[in-house]
Amino acid sequence: MSILQTNYLGLSLRNPLIVSSSGLTSTREKITRLEASGAGAVVLKSVFEEQILNETTHLENYTAYTEAADYLQYYLKEDYLGQYLNMIRDLKSTLSIPVIASICCVATGGWVDFARRIEEAGADALELNVFLLPTRRDETAAAIEQRYLSIVESVTSAVKLPVAVKVTSRFTNLLNVVEGIAHRNARGVVMFNRFHEPDINIRTLEVTEADIFSTSAELRNSLRWIAMTSAAFPQLDIAASTGVHTGEDAAKVLLAGARAFEVCSTIYRGGLEMIGKITSFLETWMHEQGFESMKEVVGKLNYSRVNHPIAYERAQFMKYFASHE
Ligand SMILES: Cc1cc2nc3c(=O)[nH]c(=O)nc-3n(C[C@H](O)[C@H](O)[C@H](O)COP(=O)(O)O)c2cc1C
Repeated sequence: MSILQTNYLGLSLRNPLIVSSSGLTSTREKITRLEASGAGAVVLKSVFEEQILNETTHLENYTAYTEAADYLQYYLKEDYLGQYLNMIRDLKSTLSIPVIASICCVATGGWVDFARRIEEAGADALELNVFLLPTRRDETAAAIEQRYLSIVESVTSAVKLPVAVKVTSRFTNLLNVVEGIAHRNARGVVMFNRFHEPDINIRTLEVTEADIFSTSAELRNSLRWIAMTSAAFPQLDIAASTGVHTGEDAAKVLLAGARAFEVCSTIYRGGLEMIGKITSFLETWMHEQGFESMKEVVGKLNYSRVNHPIAYERAQFMKYFASHE
């Protein structure tokens, strides 16, 4: 067995590198190449219920017959989802690495329906891509968190396959939200989702899209929260996401407590060979450090296992940093 073998969501992975949900995992051909390049698992591009709804609502403008529009909407939704389910079935009959599906829905019914059908199609696990952008000032944080948790509960109570929740770090009390996720029988958390962000072009005076790719610098925020979450909830499996670009980055998130890590930007930028570069770095580094298995690495430096956990808590530039004056 490879020294890099790890367990995530009850699945055995030949190594902890998972290619995250994105255009990299949108077709069978691309996923087959990811497996051949050495990925430990893949998360399929999310199915977006909102996209289906957007594509079908314009139909109402074309037909005066509501029933006909309803039928067309239903047909297009079935077609879109059906293609996704067929891809899962195909991948499961040809691939040997785990296939994790991903959904992003609008209504509770959508989350449950999609999750059930994905389970039937044979996916190994399901990642929930949930993000509720708070745009209403009369909605409290507690109410938003409750909506978030009820989505998790509705899915985990409808399916048996392992569910991981891809969370944002922008909760007031992340550990409290993760506790709610754990109580609702999710098997893991993906830390963190990275969303499209706006930018402003000061020459054309337009709102544009910020860089869609991350940098290694974004990893630091994850390290603190992975270290704390893995110490507080040993029953949850953590996959790091956002900012893992190199073998060094991967080693850090594993030491902090992630059982696996997801990569996206680094493959878009550096190509498929990044997979081999990162996994061989990890293998060499483990040998150099005298680690014999992933079990010895994962969480070795988490919040409850380091001598000075306060290093994970420091948020203010106090006297300690006087040497940098
Ligand atoms: C082009 C592109 C498409 C993406 N599509 C999805 C998606 O469908 N579902 C999802 O959960 N995340 C999606 N993401 C987010 C990535 O899965 C990942 O969480 C994010 O890029 C941070 O990881 P990284 O630092 O390795 O890039 C997408 C990212 C990119 C760049």
